[in-house]
This record gives sequence, C-alpha cells and structure tokens, in this order.
Amino acid sequence: MRNLVTKKIEKQSVEGKALLLTLRGEALKSTPLWLMRQAGRYLPEYREVRASVSGFLELCYTPDKAVEVTLQPIRRFGFDAAILFADILLLPHSMGQPLDFKEGEGPKLEVIRDLGGVERLNFEQIDRHLEPVYKTVKRLSGQLPDETTLIGFAGAPWTVATYMVEGASSRDFVNVKSWAFSRPDEFDLLIDLLVRGTVQYLAGQIRAGAEVIQLFDTWAGVLPEDEFRRFVIAPTKRIVEGIKSIAPNVPVIGFPRGAGVFLEAYVKETHVDAVGLDSSVSLTWAAANLQPVCTVQGNLDPVLLLSGGKPMLQAAHRILDAFAGGPFIFNLGHGILPATPPEHVADLVRCVRGWRA
Ligand code: CP3
Repeated sequence: MRNLVTKKIEKQSVEGKALLLTLRGEALKSTPLWLMRQAGRYLPEYREVRASVSGFLELCYTPDKAVEVTLQPIRRFGFDAAILFADILLLPHSMGQPLDFKEGEGPKLEVIRDLGGVERLNFEQIDRHLEPVYKTVKRLSGQLPDETTLIGFAGAPWTVATYMVEGASSRDFVNVKSWAFSRPDEFDLLIDLLVRGTVQYLAGQIRAGAEVIQLFDTWAGVLPEDEFRRFVIAPTKRIVEGIKSIAPNVPVIGFPRGAGVFLEAYVKETHVDAVGLDSSVSLTWAAANLQPVCTVQGNLDPVLLLSGGKPMLQAAHRILDAFAGGPFIFNLGHGILPATPPEHVADLVRCVRGWRA
C-alpha cells in the first residue's frame, strides 16, 4: 500500500481552523459545525446547477460545477468545513463497474456477485478516472476562506460493497449478506480490493488538498457482531493505517451508522480520530464512553432539521450541553433531507453559533 505514494505529506496548518483543532482533541468554546450532505437538492442554487447538466455523474466529474456546488452552502451558512462534492460510488465506477443515476430512483450498478465479477474490476485506471475529482479538490483548496476546512471522503468498504452487490439501494441486503455469510473468504477479496482502492483514492484527495477524511459506513448497522468486526472494523482499521502512513497529520472521521453497542470497539480498534454518531446514540453514554477516547460528531435527527422550530432548537441545545466537556463537532445524525427548508438550516447555524457552555 505504502509504495503507491512515496512521499509523506506532513504539512498541516491548524491555525484558525476550528474543525482541525477539535479533531486534534481540543474542546473549543465555540463548537465547529458542518452538515452531512450540506450541498444538495434542498438548496435552490444547487437545483439550478443540477439542471444545467445531463445527470448527477456529470456534475461529479465536472470540476467547475462540483466546485460551485461545494461552495454554495459555505457562502450561505459559513460552515466550518466544506465537503468535496462527489459520491461514494465513484470508486467502483473508477474500477470499471458500470454505474448510472436514474432520475428519482437513486444509483443503478451492474451487479457483482461472484469471484469472476471481482476479477473483472480494474485497479490500474482508478487515478486516471478520478482525476476530475482531484482537480475539484485542488481548486477548492485555493478558493475556500482561510478558516474553512476541506473534507475529502469515501464510502467504507462494507457500504460500497452493498451497492456493488445489490446493484442499487436495498432494504434487506439479501445478496450481499448471503455472500458475506456463506463465502466470507471470497467476499474478503472484494473487501480487500476496496480497502486498497479507497486508500489510493483518498491519497489522491489528500495530495490535492483535502485536510480531513470522512469514511461513510451508512450500512454498518445491518451486520451481526462477527461480521461487523470482519467487514466493518478490520477494513476501516486498514484504511486508517494506510492514510496515516501517507499523511500522518490528516485526521479521519469514521461514520459507522447504526453501529450501536459496537461503537466503542469501532473507535478503539480502528483508531479513527473522530466518530460520527447517528441520532439513535445516547448522548450521555457517548459523552462518558466515546468522548474520552476520540472527538465525537453528530447527531441531530435530520427530520428535526426538516420540521424546525422549537423542538429542533431544544434538541440542538441538549446535544451541545451533553458534549460541551470535550472535543465535539456539531452535525446531523445522517444527511440533510431534500425537503428541508434552507431557513431551518440558518436557524440551526444561529443556534449553534450563539450557544455558550
Ligand atoms: O454535500 C455533501 O455531503 C457532499 C456530497 C455527497 C453526495 N453523496 C452527493 C449526492 C456525499 C458525501 C455523498 C455520500 C453518499 N452517497 C452516501 C453516504 C452518506 C449517506 O447519505 O448515507 C451514500 C450511501 C451515497 C450513495 C448515493 N448517492 C445514493 C443512495 C443516492 C441516491 C439517494 C439520494 O439522496 O438522491 C445518491 C445521490 C446523491 N449523492 C445526490 C447527491 C447530492 C442526489 C443526486 C441529485 O442531485 O440528483
């Protein structure tokens, strides 16, 4: 893995960047905030750019437009971080798996369900295919305000594999889980390929200027304990090691959605610098058991943001109160819903900015 990138990237200036300071373990008086899926359909200016391209993938692969939609929520709300506009499915796409986003239907992939399918994936062309994404990162790093941190990201191998094997979003994960349960050694070959591809992809983002990495493991919560250890914890640990060997100072945020009681093992064994909490996680439990080990991020229910008003503000205060004692990044428990009124986001930002312990 190490020979992919020979030169270590040591430089990182944390000065004036609240998100980076928090990820180093500092508990700041003013809590940094950004929101998962902060660029997207809830913003009219996003819908306008989106209407100018033929499809979602074109938006991801056109640096000028991807830069523009990444910057839109920063201009509007002044978040502490910008997250690269791309998608977790660009990696399998770059490995040669056909991918399409059908209007209103979500992703469609040509399914991979056996070793033959894994063997047809091509590792060599990843960087060439993803060059437009690296270009987007590079341009962003020159255009963001000094105090704004640039987050790069990838899907974690398990979550990416669910889409590769099911061919679309799934309710029950029958195909991918059957493969993982009945032929785990074979399934491990797919996971291993994704680990190596992810490190290479993230190394490209870091070289281009990404200052933090978030690993989205949206479907971590559907696995039983043994498989959670094998297909969530083990590959995430390898990716964290891979990133640290390339860029020791770039913090990694893991987001194992739905991990529940396995969160503690996830944090302690993967060595992520921060953990994203979904909305079901108990605040007092996380403050007592996770925050002493790493920075925590989360976890307002996206539906509270959608419905807004007093219940949203009260919930935000409960979260801020619970995590005030240690390093904390305000965020949602999952991505912004497309029907969210932008004014509610403005209300939330005002609430977090105005809060004092
Ligand atoms: O603002 C940001 O957070 C950056 C961009 C971003 C997108 N997807 C853009 C996107 C990020 C970080 C993602 C991550 C992603 N993509 C995840 C993990 C996070 C999560 O939400 O669970 C997953 C599972 C995907 C795969 C994916 N992409 C699905 C299932 C869908 C269809 C559902 C949907 O929300 O439309 C997408 C499409 C997608 N990715 C859109 C955006 C803005 C909407 C497409 C459009 O604008 O037409």
